[in-house]
Amino acid sequence: MNTIHRHSGQSQGGHPPHGKSGAAARERLRRNLGYGVMAGLGVTLLSGCGSRQLISMGDLASGFNREVAFMSIFAIVMSVIIFVAVSYALFYTVNKFRDDKNTAPPAQFHGNNRLEVILVVVPVIIVMALAVLTVRSMAILNPVPDQASKIDVLARQFWWNFSYPEVKADAGGNVTNGNEMIMPTKQSVALTITSGDVIHGFWAPNIGGQRAAMPATLKTWNVDIDRAAVYQGNCTQLCGASHANMRYKVIALDQARYNSFLAAAKAYRAPEPAADSAEARGYAIFMQGKPATGALACAACHRIQGTTAAGVAGPDLSFFGTRRTLGAGMWEFMEEEHWETPRAKEILHAWIKHSPYVKPGSLMPTYDGSEYTANGKQVKGGVLTDEEIDDVAAYLRTLKLPEEANYWNDTPVYGSSDAAQNASAQIAKTSSPVPGGK
Ligand code: CUA
Repeated sequence: MNTIHRHSGQSQGGHPPHGKSGAAARERLRRNLGYGVMAGLGVTLLSGCGSRQLISMGDLASGFNREVAFMSIFAIVMSVIIFVAVSYALFYTVNKFRDDKNTAPPAQFHGNNRLEVILVVVPVIIVMALAVLTVRSMAILNPVPDQASKIDVLARQFWWNFSYPEVKADAGGNVTNGNEMIMPTKQSVALTITSGDVIHGFWAPNIGGQRAAMPATLKTWNVDIDRAAVYQGNCTQLCGASHANMRYKVIALDQARYNSFLAAAKAYRAPEPAADSAEARGYAIFMQGKPATGALACAACHRIQGTTAAGVAGPDLSFFGTRRTLGAGMWEFMEEEHWETPRAKEILHAWIKHSPYVKPGSLMPTYDGSEYTANGKQVKGGVLTDEEIDDVAAYLRTLKLPEEANYWNDTPVYGSSDAAQNASAQIAKTSSPVPGGK
């Protein structure tokens, strides 16, 4: 500690005598370390409060995660051994040759060939062992099994489409769902991941590792999970204003339920609204917009299976009424009556009315006549009345899969505690959910 005394005394002239300065330095170090630990803990706790669901790459219900954990054990054990050995050598040397012991200079061994060979060969062996382990895991995880179910993942600013290349819908096109990925349990699922604009990152930690979504590039990635449940996914590549609002749900179903989802989704045609109903008026606006007030048609950007709406600039809305998330996971409605709750109705209304104001960077037009940014230019939105907006919402709520294919029914949300649910319900009650809502 003598060296520290001297050092702090010299570098911060004008301090009290050495003894006290040393104690102060120690105290400062202790306090700073304490703050560091507290800050680290605080971040952990805060992130726990913010999310409603536990996400974990240590979820061993996934074969992918099991393989990575197995590999990690070797890597961690080797790292610990190296850390202990290096620390021991360091402290031994520092202690043995500290200057206040007035020892003679240590023996010099420049040009000691044997030592130099050892210092090169040992690290090479360590790195090679890690490389072999890594390549072994990659060889196990990367090949696409013949029997794998296939899902195409498209990332856009700021949402996801999940489509099933092997399932052609009877009404045309591939079965596709926006922001909610349904997959079978207990088998490898081969994802083909791409992006329609900038680089995004696909990461649902419970089902496997992370993969970049690159424009004009198809990347394959195998994921799997044994447990039927709902998991959380996120975009992990900073991609713009709503990077943090680019989430999705992974809903893993047992094979039988997965098959019944696919069968129903294949046969699905959007229901035709009854004449003169609110839904019928909403359907008309969805398809044609309202040219008189400049309100653009929703169908230009969104697809609804079984209708003429075939837009691809926005997420697929075919099963919108079955979904329980809005704005790519910005809002969740986990209640049984999800879209029928007052909160959901209020938020959906605000969403249609002026999506760019409730989700930064959203490319959807406004429908309240306010300005929004399109292709880098300020544009004035068209106008729909509040009643017309509610009509569109009413139509969207009818876009439901049959109940036996409703993938949310009885599927537990993994890692969502009552405490977290209550907290989020409390937040919903005590704060205005969206600025400028109805
Ligand atoms: Cu997409 Cu971050």
